Amino acid sequence: SQRSLVLLKPDAVRRGLIGEIIGRIERKAGWTIAALELRELDQDTLEQHYGEHKGKPFYEPLMGFMQSGPVVAMVVEGERVIEGLRTLAGPTDPIAAAPGSIRGDYGTIVRENLIHASDSEESAARELKIFFPGLV
Ligand code: GTP
Ligand code: MG
Repeated sequence: SQRSLVLLKPDAVRRGLIGEIIGRIERKAGWTIAALELRELDQDTLEQHYGEHKGKPFYEPLMGFMQSGPVVAMVVEGERVIEGLRTLAGPTDPIAAAPGSIRGDYGTIVRENLIHASDSEESAARELKIFFPGLV
């Protein structure tokens, strides 16, 4: 099975959607939460996480938004969880995301799109090391 790094972004925490989003993840057959933490992210952690976007016009506002309040960081484990979480989240732009997906149901703003989920096995391995370095 696979592991993915999930972040419930500050908008999701502020709007009281932690339970709703975690509930959807928990209800997927066989998926489990292997680690979970409410925390504030510093600039250094975020630069490692979103380094691929450095220099893009949305990068600085994204960094600010991601530090505007706590996030829920978690490790989700299970069958095809990387692809599955991207499907559950929906596309980056919540207006383009289908109803039924997390972004499609709750989002309107591209930056404030509620959830991050690793986009590949390579990303997952890299991101898990950043957020949960002690995980076996
Ligand atoms: P993450 O799971 O957060 O990485 O989202 P993603 O993989 O769907 O999108 P991507 O990695 O391309 O972009 C990272 C984040 O930057 C997105 O989730 C958005 O919050 C933000 N973002 C990406 N593209 C844009 C954009 O064109 N405009 C704005 N305002 N924000 C963007
Ligand atoms: Mg991404």
